[in-house]
Amino acid sequence: MDQYISVTPQEAATPRDGAIKLHGEEGFAGMRRAGRAAAEVLDALIPHVVPGVTTGELDDLVRTHMIALGGVPATLGYRGFTHSCCTSINQVVCHGIPNDKPLKDGDIVNIDVTIIIDGWHGDTSRMFLVGDVPLKARKLVDVTYECLMIGVNMARPGVQLGDIGAAIQKHAEANRYGVVRDFCGHGLGRLFHDAPEVVHAGRPGTGVELREGMCLTIEPMINIGKGGVKILDDGWTAVTRDRKLSAQFEHSIGITADGCEIFTESPKGLHNPPY
Ligand code: MF3
Ligand code: CO
Ligand code: CO
Repeated sequence: MDQYISVTPQEAATPRDGAIKLHGEEGFAGMRRAGRAAAEVLDALIPHVVPGVTTGELDDLVRTHMIALGGVPATLGYRGFTHSCCTSINQVVCHGIPNDKPLKDGDIVNIDVTIIIDGWHGDTSRMFLVGDVPLKARKLVDVTYECLMIGVNMARPGVQLGDIGAAIQKHAEANRYGVVRDFCGHGLGRLFHDAPEVVHAGRPGTGVELREGMCLTIEPMINIGKGGVKILDDGWTAVTRDRKLSAQFEHSIGITADGCEIFTESPKGLHNPPY
């Protein structure tokens, strides 16, 4: 039996050892502001993600924009991470560290931003196509976005996380792609990574049951090859074991009485490429 606890905004900041927090209207209002700001940051990056730009330059844009919106980057100083976003190119699955290498024509890159506004977190990522991207890579990006939205569209009270994981896995595998098991979505609110773990593969009828008031991310990582990953010596960068391409999209959502609210929806409707 999973433990759920209704929390005030004050209580939301305290870790509760595996218990799942249920947020009220004030929490949803905070999550809405943070989620929208995170999505605006990604919208603003679009014209800048072109061949020749470095991921370090994109990181500077992210930090500057977040501060202009009255927020701060949640990843800056998080467990020793020293940047304002993650930039994961081609075979990088997640947690790529921005650096001074330019993006190349044909790259696919995930940019994952998390902003804190008034203590609430907005966590979202999208794929960006750099110049002319081969069809094989574009198809991976399209299917990965579909995987995210399959999960989001299922999210409502009574659905179990295994139901969502199984549906995402089914769609990925129908396209002969592999689902990454080593990283999950997560509860979030005034904490960045909270219970529950949101798996992107699994069995229907298993796992935590969604309830109204839960706030969480869905963020499937889908690989052209197998789902296995390896962490590079920098301690962060996760790459596919077989070095084939990987893609990811992420939304922060809140469970409502009859479905879910997407906090990180693009204000400009720029959900997936081509933008
Ligand atoms: N934004 C990532 C997530 O979706 C977490 C990044 S943590 C970092 O959960 F330290 F790598 F930046
Ligand atoms: Co996340
Ligand atoms: Co993220």
